[in-house]
Amino acid sequence: MHIPAELAIQADADLKEYNTLGVPSRARYLTTVDSTALLTQALRFAQEAKLAVLVLGQGSNTVLTRDFDGLVIHNQLRGVEVLAETASHIELRVAAGENWHQFVTRAVNQQWFGVENLALIPGLVGAAPIQNIGAYGAEVKDVITAVEYLDRTTLATQTLSNDACQFAYRDSIFKNALCDATVITAVQFRLNKRATLNLGYPALADEAGEQPSLASVYDAVCRIRTQKLPDPAEIPNAGSFFKNPLVTAEHHQRLKSQFPGLVSFATGEGYKLAAGWLIDQAGWKDKEVAGVRVHQQQALVVINPAIRSGADVMALAAAIQQDIARIYNVQLEVEPRIY
Ligand code: FAD
Ligand code: EPU
Repeated sequence: MHIPAELAIQADADLKEYNTLGVPSRARYLTTVDSTALLTQALRFAQEAKLAVLVLGQGSNTVLTRDFDGLVIHNQLRGVEVLAETASHIELRVAAGENWHQFVTRAVNQQWFGVENLALIPGLVGAAPIQNIGAYGAEVKDVITAVEYLDRTTLATQTLSNDACQFAYRDSIFKNALCDATVITAVQFRLNKRATLNLGYPALADEAGEQPSLASVYDAVCRIRTQKLPDPAEIPNAGSFFKNPLVTAEHHQRLKSQFPGLVSFATGEGYKLAAGWLIDQAGWKDKEVAGVRVHQQQALVVINPAIRSGADVMALAAAIQQDIARIYNVQLEVEPRIY
């Protein structure tokens, strides 16, 4: 097998630094790409060598449960380009390997509105559309105009409009019809140059002060997150481990009469339940199974301080799912991607 020297491929690579849960896992091959030419070359090499491909950004929404017998491509495509600008809006193309929070900070410093509620979400720009990242009443789909990617099979460049991405709560075409079939190379955004703050999330409105500004909302989001969510650099984790489940109005009514404190939100289709509340009330907060724990401040977050395996992490998740199904008749869906 010919391994192109330009790819600087590492064999039997340690992936501990490439996933924020810190789980031990090794890749048969690993390459870091900082140009689309190198990315194309890496995909071609994988095709010729019949190797499976796993693309990783920061690995903050990924659980590695085994060694990866293929090629891991670490995306480091960089660059931010202005595509168009008017008095009211700016359109940008941001390369997939840019750090998400740094992009948000840059937008806030430039007085561009639209991504401030999504400050401090870990990960890279290229992963943001995959699960349509969201927080504090905002979702990235609200500011994405298009997603550019390479098709992993044909190696052709494609651009999908916002509509075609089929964005939904923590979901998109990239987790369904195009699951593991693309490498996102850039995301196009349309941000507002005129003040439009999104303060629909009560805790954010309280924290952002009497006369909220772009900077005060950004600071408030950072403060709230720092209080509630563990920094993966200090306590390994992958953020919320489960999605907030959707139940019918009837199911919701039954639960509400049995559990009056139930935290839920009406949606067009039924009710979304706060999975953190369900798990917390079921007594899981700060519980540990085989060294993997439920976070003390946020029961939706599984932490891995003792650096146990991905299988150990999934065993705790399965025990929580079983318990939540038994108590509330609710099936919790795992949020991160499992490999
Ligand atoms: P990775 O984990 O590297 O990848 C995630 C998935 O996308 C994998 O399937 C991977 O193969 C694929 N992928 C990555 N890059 C590409 C690419 N360029 N092309 C094709 N496929 C790709 N999420 C939220 O929505 N809201 C939150 O508030 C939030 N808070 C978090 C807090 C903490 C402390 C942590 C650890 C995570 C949190 N997350 C949150 C989850 C996570 O930050 C996001 O999902 C983020 O977008 C993942 O980025 P990443 O680069 O780390 O992705
Ligand atoms: N709650 C508890 N106990 C807990 C955790 C939460 O009672 O241990 C209650 C809270 O008191 C609150 C409700 O549950 O009434 C919701 O909690 P929170 O506002 O912290 O939000 P969440 O629903 O737990 C979601 C996202 C987060 C996002 C926050 C802020 C999902 C799966 N998670 O969490 O996203 O940052 O809202 O908008 O939708 C992620 O996806 O990784 C993530 C961290």
